[in-house]
Amino acid sequence: MSKEKMNKGATPMKFSNDKMPVTKKIFMTDFTIIRQYNFPTTIRFGAGVINELPGHLAANGLSKPLLVTDPMVNGLDFFINIKNSLTVKSFSVQIFSAIHKNPVKSDVLKGGDVFKATNRDCIIGIGGGAAMDVARAIALRANHHRDLFDYDDLVGGDQYVTHSVPYFITVPTTSGTGSEVGRSAIISEDDTHRKRILFSPKLLAKMVFADPMLTMELPSFVTAATGMDALTHNMEAFIAKGFHPMADGIALEGIRLINESIVTATNGPDLESRSKMMIASLMGAVAFQKGLGVVHSLAHPLSSLLDTHHGLANAVNLPYGMRFNAPGLEAQFRRIASAMELTAATGEAVVDHLFKLNQQLGLPTKLSDIGVKAEHIETLSDLAFADFCHPNNPKPVTRDNFKQLYTGAL
Ligand SMILES: NC(=O)c1ccc[n+]([C@@H]2O[C@H](COP(=O)([O-])OP(=O)(O)OC[C@H]3O[C@@H](n4cnc5c(N)ncnc54)[C@H](O)[C@@H]3O)[C@@H](O)[C@H]2O)c1
Ligand SMILES: [Fe+2]
Repeated sequence: MSKEKMNKGATPMKFSNDKMPVTKKIFMTDFTIIRQYNFPTTIRFGAGVINELPGHLAANGLSKPLLVTDPMVNGLDFFINIKNSLTVKSFSVQIFSAIHKNPVKSDVLKGGDVFKATNRDCIIGIGGGAAMDVARAIALRANHHRDLFDYDDLVGGDQYVTHSVPYFITVPTTSGTGSEVGRSAIISEDDTHRKRILFSPKLLAKMVFADPMLTMELPSFVTAATGMDALTHNMEAFIAKGFHPMADGIALEGIRLINESIVTATNGPDLESRSKMMIASLMGAVAFQKGLGVVHSLAHPLSSLLDTHHGLANAVNLPYGMRFNAPGLEAQFRRIASAMELTAATGEAVVDHLFKLNQQLGLPTKLSDIGVKAEHIETLSDLAFADFCHPNNPKPVTRDNFKQLYTGAL
């Protein structure tokens, strides 16, 4: 979720036009300023690519992986198959799965201890965003021994990420966060549950095995909620502040792919729809290097305060957040409506469509349906206003705006 540091250190090039002939004068516009764009890593994508994992480890001289997952995935057939595929090849496999639904710092510290005590040579995060984030944070922890939250991006923590990190592989098994291609790990404080972001380009996985077959047994509710998180990433990235045509193009195609596949992927899954969701969720995370916005700031406090699943929190807030953003952003919403193939190319049509989509997916459309009560709204508004995402929203968002948005969604 951390804003891409794409422009860090990049100084706009200065030209003097004075001595140039009029026809060749170079005028500085958004298109002509030098910028740095960081795009992700090697991704093996497609049904069956997980079978390449043992060979990949062997080819890189690795034999002692720490598999990081969550307690639920740890018991699923596909995970046991991955573990067995490594065991028969005589690897020494260690599993760490003691993580919370919204992972906390102590999860990472325990995982870091296991990594060290069992003398591992690489880390493989297998699961949804929670497992992959913990795996990434353990990779950071291996050679960085300051307090974990000293590496918080919001307090400039990436400056301390100076050492190498162990070889790190991600294997997504949900299609939502796109954490497989991220450089940040979202880890909460144990006591307050406040979400912190550990960020460094060094935390990008060396290799991603994105195999849609691993999502075929994903329950419909998780498919819908994580898929709406991916849709939120693409939509928020597309309208986020800043100039990033590559992210915009990827986000629009991500919106198109999710819109055409999320209902089938949820209600009557086949490989094609689940594949489209997997690539589109990965694209969302590439696109949100540009930034996110008001919807994620509305969603994060729900996880902190009520332990709401991240995707579900986004799904419920998405139509309301987009209704807030639409006026004044007619051109962007026209393009979103077109990517969604709506008959009316307006913000209103997009918002109506999002409400209908949640209904088709069997997801709630009001905050009261997910346990939010009127007495939560003041605290939620404080937390949302303090959140790190809305500064990239195309419109400024005040604490009052958050209060109105929560109240309107109740
Ligand atoms: N790093 C990032 O850029 C980033 C971005 C957004 C969210 N996040 C974080 O990611 C987390 C949410 O991730 P998520 O939405 O993937 O949810 P999740 O990791 O919590 O997984 C959701 C549920 O699905 C189960 N599951 C996972 N794969 C399965 C499969 N193939 N079959 C059956 N069940 C399966 C899990 O056990 C879990 O119960 C939050 O902690 C959030 O803060 C990180
Ligand atoms: Fe998200």
